[in-house]
Amino acid sequence: MSGQGDVYLNGEFMPLAEAKVSVLDRGFIFGDGIYEVIPVYGGRLFRLAHHLQRLDQSLQAIHLANPLSHPQWQTLLEELVRRNGGGDQSLYLQLTRGVSARDHRFPLNTPPTLFAMSTPLAVSAEAPAPSHAITVEDIRWQLCHIKSIALLPNILLRQQALEAGADEAIMVRDGAVTEGTASNIFVVRDGLVTTPPTGQLLLPGITRDLVVELCQRHQIPCQEQRLDEEALRQADEIWLTSSTREIVPVVELNRQPVANGRPGPIWGEISRHYQAYKQAFREGREA
Ligand SMILES: Cc1ncc(COP(=O)(O)O)c(C=O)c1O
Repeated sequence: MSGQGDVYLNGEFMPLAEAKVSVLDRGFIFGDGIYEVIPVYGGRLFRLAHHLQRLDQSLQAIHLANPLSHPQWQTLLEELVRRNGGGDQSLYLQLTRGVSARDHRFPLNTPPTLFAMSTPLAVSAEAPAPSHAITVEDIRWQLCHIKSIALLPNILLRQQALEAGADEAIMVRDGAVTEGTASNIFVVRDGLVTTPPTGQLLLPGITRDLVVELCQRHQIPCQEQRLDEEALRQADEIWLTSSTREIVPVVELNRQPVANGRPGPIWGEISRHYQAYKQAFREGREA
């Protein structure tokens, strides 16, 4: 559900109940579209430039022109934040290849469908609930760097995790750990933080990049390196990162405790740095 305020659809702000899209929209028919999720703290759009850059990369990868410039996006999204009462929110925005007769080929001269809404931001001031995860085969396609709205594999794997009594599935492709169904992964061993390198097989998470940045800033040893399942089994700590859930410690993997089964000290340290960064951002001390 959106908050009380308006949503945005194709150039207009309106109540959610009035926002209607044709059943011929290629997002509905083909899943032919991409999206972004941007947290808002103290009424300010967090890491906006990074999100807009990733939006451009997703659009480029699906050969869809961005209908708005970055300043136009900023104006639109700030207005959406304002109409939803400022403060803390999570913005969801989606672009599809628009409405046309059902045909795989790209339509000509069809404007994209642009939709954006605000949802409540679930992150609380307290520590997040630790995660219980399972490992699964990464059954997705070869272009996982695109933030595609076609999320059926992620949905199926998340559901599999839930039905196994866990809350997230960590995907493994050809022996290499990629990411969670809606999160990136970090592993700590002997004080060294490791996350898989970006590329076409995982989403370049905005939170992932910030965590790497904060490790560098605070002299926490960190590397981008391939991880295998054995690295998960031997981990002192495992974390999952995402814009809406921030940094979540995994305390149980495949029904076995991760180390002593409690969130680890380096997770505590990086979380403190993350919260301090957010607070500085709220107060306008971080861009
Ligand atoms: C598959 C996947 N990986 C990683 C992430 C984390 O990305 P971000 O930190 O930009 O939210 C998400 C977020 O939804 C995701 O869906």
